[in-house]
This record gives sequence, structure tokens and C-alpha cells, in this order.
Amino acid sequence: MEGKIGISLPNCNREKLTGSGGRKFDYGIAEGPEWGFGSEEYKVGGLEEELKEEDDVEVEETSNIDVLQSHGINIVDLKKLKSAGICTIKGIMMCTKKRLCNIKGLSEQKVEKIKEACCKLDTGGFLTALQFSDKRKNIFRITTGSQDLDKLLGGGMESMAITEAFGEFRTGKTQLSHTLCVTAQMPSQGFTGGKVIFIDTENTFRPDRLRSIAERFNLDQNAVLDNILYARAYTSEHQYELLDLIAAKCHEECGTFKLVIVDSIMALFRVDFSGRGELSERQQKLAQMLSRLQKISEEYNMVVFVTNQMTSDPGATMSFQADPKKPIGGNILAHASTTRLSLRKGRGENRIAKIYDSPDLPESEATFAISAGGITDSKE
Ligand SMILES: Nc1ncnc2c1ncn2[C@@H]1O[C@H](COP(=O)(O)OP(=O)(O)OP(=O)(O)O)[C@@H](O)[C@H]1O
Ligand SMILES: [Mg+2]
Repeated sequence: MEGKIGISLPNCNREKLTGSGGRKFDYGIAEGPEWGFGSEEYKVGGLEEELKEEDDVEVEETSNIDVLQSHGINIVDLKKLKSAGICTIKGIMMCTKKRLCNIKGLSEQKVEKIKEACCKLDTGGFLTALQFSDKRKNIFRITTGSQDLDKLLGGGMESMAITEAFGEFRTGKTQLSHTLCVTAQMPSQGFTGGKVIFIDTENTFRPDRLRSIAERFNLDQNAVLDNILYARAYTSEHQYELLDLIAAKCHEECGTFKLVIVDSIMALFRVDFSGRGELSERQQKLAQMLSRLQKISEEYNMVVFVTNQMTSDPGATMSFQADPKKPIGGNILAHASTTRLSLRKGRGENRIAKIYDSPDLPESEATFAISAGGITDSKE
């Protein structure tokens, strides 16, 4: 036999990895040939097709928890799970028993039974690296509006991950958030486009800004605005509670939401918790919120983009450190963010982005510009 050597081991099992079902999403385009008018069908995980395809039923991880009814879990308890934002089998598998017990009306016994039923569906085990690689083929990227910045990010903002952009004031974090709100709706190769959820903690969301960005891309402005769900969070608790609503919304309109933005992730935590005495409580709450965001991004295959502020560490200046300015949020945020992007001001409208931390991208830089039409390539 010529070429690559195939290795075959006894009892190697294949597992069905993807399901399909149809959902519709409307995006408006004013003119322009690139993206037809109206709606487009695309694939999301679904159970019905699976049932048709195989006698030996394997339940997709993103299946509705209603399938648990046939495993002896009553509908009232399933409703309680949904009201806490847990709508899929994967969602249950991602929660500790402790967290499930904290849901009003769910006793330890009930939680035990629910977990057992999920285990019977056999979705939480090992995959081979090859199967996992197939699964990662579902990952898509959203363009930032600047080709250079996209290149730096390996093709755009990646789904199933948290991307964090931090920098001083007016470095373009909010402008990038606004641009992504629009570009997330535009189909591109291998990506259908979808709706957006925006959590605003600093009161800097401006729908009119979206109009000029939509105009740049020749999109119907009202249709673009109509595809963005906006919430203003006033406290860190409120910010956390909104995540339950996001999970419920994503489940309800399965596959239509592609992007969640939190601008900014730390602002309210900074206000709600002050001083060293409250630091550990703050970090604990922050960790819970980021873990929830991470799970949402994986469970519903979405891009999560968060912005972050910087602090100048007086201690670091004293010790003559090269870079006394750091993103806030400490180790918790550092570990939760998949890709960390550092932004700084360049000349005029130019801004410089640097990969600060990434599991698969080198630490290089790109220059982009802020224009009336949002983030774009620098002219320099
Ligand atoms: N319509 C526009 N056209 C061109 N540039 C704009 C426009 N609107 C805002 N900008 C520029 O964007 C910059 C502000 O960026 P942005 O609001 O994203 O900052 P930020 O990083 O979010 O800051 P902060 O930390 O204060 O939230 C300013 O330099 C401003 O001049
Ligand atoms: Mg801002």
C-alpha cells in the first residue's frame, strides 16, 4: 500500500457528531448583489432528523431537555430548569449538582434523577481528537470590518470562544462592538449571518451609530437594528441574570443568534465591589459569570465578545515594570478569555491591536482605523 499508513484498532467506534434542522433568519439588504434579499435556511442541531436517520437513537447534546420526559422527569421540573436558563442536555451536563439544587423547587433527589437521566443519554463522554476536530468545523468567524485585524485574529472573531478587547478610553472598544453588531448579520463563506445580543453596562450603545455602519455595508438600516437585542445592565447581579435570558432566547430561536457582546464586562463589578475586602467575592461572582458566558458560547455555537478597562498599577510603576498598565479582572478574566486583544491609540483615527494571549495565535500586531462606517483598514 502506498501513501499514508492507516491505523486500525479493534472496536473503534464512530459517533454521530452533527444533527440538522431548519431555522430561518431574516436580514435586510438595501441593494447589492452579494447577499440576496430575504431569508436563508441553514443548519442547526435538531432531534427529528436524527430520529429518522438511526434506529439506535443517539441524542444530540443540544437537544431540548424535553426528551428527558421519556426518562421519567416530569414536565414541571423541566420548566423549572428552563426558567433558570437551562434548556439543553448539554446545559444540564455543564451545571454542577450544587447549582441545580439552588434552582427553586428542585430537591437534591430530583437533581440526582435528572443527572442520571442525562447520563443515560450518554452525551458527556470522550470523543476522539478526530471527532473533536470534526466538531470544531462548525466554528465560524465574524469579520471585524478590517481585513488586517481579521488576519491578526486568524480570520475574524471566533465562535465557541470568548474574545476580550481591552485598552484605555477611546481605543475603539465600543466602536468595534458596534461594527460587530452589523457584520455578524452579514453572510460570508461558511457563515450564514445571525442576530446579536448586546449587554451595555456603560450606556454607550448608540443605535444611530449602527445606521452609519449599516450604510457602509449597504444594508437595510431598520432590518439591521431589528436583529439586535439590547439590554442595559445596571448592576453586576442584573448583568448575570441577563445571561439566563440569553440562554432562554438562544434556545427559543435555536441557531439564529450568533453573537453576544458585553461592553464592558468589568464596569459594574468595579462599582458593586470596592476595596480589597470585597475582592474575593467580586472575583468569585466574576468567575461564575464568565463560566456561564463560556458555556453559552459552546452550547449555542456563538461568538462572545467582551470589552474590558485598564488600570494603571501604582505598585508596578514603583517597581519600574515595563508595562504598568494592565487589563482589570485579574487571573479570573485572564483565564476565561480565549483570545485577549490589547488596543492602543495610534495616529489620528488609527488604532493598534495586539494579540495579548491566545491558544493558537502568535503575539503580533495589526493597525486598523475608526471611520464613520465603523472599524476599517488603516489608510497608512
Ligand atoms: N462616527 C464616528 N466616526 C469616526 N470616529 C468616531 C465616530 N464615533 C466615535 N469615533 C471615535 O471613536 C473613538 C472612541 O472609541 P470608543 O468609544 O470605541 O472608545 P472605547 O475604547 O470604548 O472607550 P471607553 O473606554 O471610554 O469606553 C473616539 O476617538 C472617537 O473620535
Ligand atoms: Mg466604550
